[in-house]
Amino acid sequence: MSESSNTNLEQAKQEGKYIRTIRSFVKREGRLTKGQAAAIEKCWPTMGLEHKNGMLNLSEVFGNNNDVVLEIGFGMGKSLVEMAKNAPHLNFIGVEVHRPGVGACLMDADEAGITNLRIFEHDAIEVLADCIEKESLTTVQLFFPDPWHKKRHHKRRIVQTEFAEKLRAQLKMGGVFHMATDWENYAEHMLEVMNVAPGFKNQSETNDYVPRPDLRPLTKFEQRGHRLGHGVWDLMFERTE
Ligand SMILES: C[S@@+](CC[C@H](N)C(=O)[O-])C[C@H]1O[C@@H](n2cnc3c(N)ncnc32)[C@H](O)[C@@H]1O
Repeated sequence: MSESSNTNLEQAKQEGKYIRTIRSFVKREGRLTKGQAAAIEKCWPTMGLEHKNGMLNLSEVFGNNNDVVLEIGFGMGKSLVEMAKNAPHLNFIGVEVHRPGVGACLMDADEAGITNLRIFEHDAIEVLADCIEKESLTTVQLFFPDPWHKKRHHKRRIVQTEFAEKLRAQLKMGGVFHMATDWENYAEHMLEVMNVAPGFKNQSETNDYVPRPDLRPLTKFEQRGHRLGHGVWDLMFERTE
């Protein structure tokens, strides 16, 4: 947690106020497979990043000054690993709270032999606030975030006005926030939030969605959706101020 949010929390506690931090995820206690556990043990020393270590020096972390892409909630990491493999001139940081996903991602990354990927097992909102310097990311990607279908749960959706504002600070000028979802109501919500978020410009020519860019790999899940006639919406917003 950042120093200022820590102070606010402390102050609120002293004043007897109760602050409930909204979380965009439910921590699922899935079991690690042997392979996932082994990959974490083997790869964490080189690929793991810890929230508790605070602000990152990205050129030290990667040993170069290449542009950095950060993915929020990479799931099992399939598309993240593929993207990192396809773009060795870029650096990738994946952030996921689900440990089996972290293990699966590290397994694939190890097999692919990639060196341009680092992983946090932590809440991405805290990672963005506490570990990423301002104006340092070229892209932030959020693919198929938990849709929180029920209306009373919409407040748990990660894309909110305050989140957009915080994320903008971490993007470089001209950097892009790329979202994709297969839930139409969430796509509309993303559009509503982002179209009025200060300092962002929609990259869509029609001021709504963009065609899936080739750089976003088509996952099995999405292929199945296409077969079933389900839609997928991509949104790309560029930081302009
Ligand atoms: C519906 S899954 C999609 C996973 C993946 N992006 C895909 O396309 O298959 C959403 C993922 O986001 C993760 N997640 C949700 N909120 C998060 C947060 N604040 N920080 C990190 N991960 C988060 C969840 O654990 C879950 O694995």
